Amino acid sequence: MLAGKKIILGITGSIAAYKAAYLIRGFVKRGAEVQVVITPAGKEFITPITLFALSSNPVISEFFSNRDGSWHSHVDLGLWADAMVIAPATAATIGKMANGIADNMLVTTYLSCKAPVFVAPAMDLDMFAHPTTRQNLDKLRGFGNYIIEPAEGELASHLVGKGRMEEPDKIIEILDNFFAAGQDLQKKKIVITAGPTYEKIDPVRFIGNYSSGKMGFALAEACASRGADVTLITGPVGLQVTNPRIHRINVESAEEMYGMAMQTFPGADAAILCAAVADYRPATVAEKKIKRNCNGNMTLELTANKDIAASLGAIKKPGQVLVGFALETNDEISNAVEKLNRKNLDFIVMNSLREEGAGFQGDTNKISILTRQDDVKEYSLRLKTEVAVDIVDQLIVTLKEK
Ligand code: PMT
Repeated sequence: MLAGKKIILGITGSIAAYKAAYLIRGFVKRGAEVQVVITPAGKEFITPITLFALSSNPVISEFFSNRDGSWHSHVDLGLWADAMVIAPATAATIGKMANGIADNMLVTTYLSCKAPVFVAPAMDLDMFAHPTTRQNLDKLRGFGNYIIEPAEGELASHLVGKGRMEEPDKIIEILDNFFAAGQDLQKKKIVITAGPTYEKIDPVRFIGNYSSGKMGFALAEACASRGADVTLITGPVGLQVTNPRIHRINVESAEEMYGMAMQTFPGADAAILCAAVADYRPATVAEKKIKRNCNGNMTLELTANKDIAASLGAIKKPGQVLVGFALETNDEISNAVEKLNRKNLDFIVMNSLREEGAGFQGDTNKISILTRQDDVKEYSLRLKTEVAVDIVDQLIVTLKEK
């Protein structure tokens, strides 16, 4: 999907600048044209000669190309591009971008850029965790930029933590997916639930489950990249969203998730219920930490939570599509069919814990999609990001049928 695309690659002063060479090679190999814009500090880490050789384009760094009065137009560059990728992006450049400090060619180009902008931070773990950096990144997200979260691992400081620039292959894949996705969900409003719920026992304990939110977040990104406005209602997870079309609502308990789902579904075209919602919660929440009873067992009385999927199924209007998940350990198909019917879903995505690589936490899943027409489609084990695309494809078919 990158063939013929024009990409501005912004490089800043970070040890990870060497990865920019692999990025250029990957983009060019896929048929994209790359124009490098590098900050003065960036040139301390990777030379323009290397970047020129790989991109076959003169590298831009200064406003003025020489002393003959000619200058580089950041405006023309901004209009030329189909995408701008800033990788690696240091805390300083992120701060300048967030606050409009246009004192170099890279930031002026960013401010003039009409194309989607992808930012891949690279920095020490404490710099990345600092509230200033977090705030600046949130600001960029708010401007509609895509933040490619750094990975965890050993950093240039030899400390281990979050701050390593994402690998070039992954960045290329993100752009490839971005351009691959049609805009077939434009103007659609989709509610997605994700992650676990926590049901409080006392101020320090809760009943929860192993859901990481990965499947639900992948669905939110897949819908948003195809043009949908997504409301993502998520339980407690350590994930970030990248697409500005995703409006994230954080909740903790099943009751809170129920409240937000009931509030947002009436204005939506579809809902995908991927959250692992606790079916029960403690009947009472202790005000103080429950002390250990040395002499015996403890009994916790539980009360049923509302079934969000069934409640939305009961208020579903003609034209709305409701998609559920079934997480099974046995009698997979019959259990899934029972949930499909009882909850008034349009289709259900079944994943079984009996399948290796499926279900909670991992990056992969293996699903079957069961429809109201008794149709069962089985899919192979794939990345959750790919599984999400399969589910969204089915959603689009179902929306058209409605
Ligand atoms: O988050 P990950 O680590 O990536 O893992 C993904 C996943 C395994 C959590 C996901 O793929 C999945 O299977 N989600 C549904 C988990 C679940 O609760 O399944 P269930 O069979 O118990 O529930 C059936 C459906 O009813 C689900 O759509 C569920 O969201 C919904 N439900 C359940 C209970 C309840 N009180 N309200 C609900 O809406």
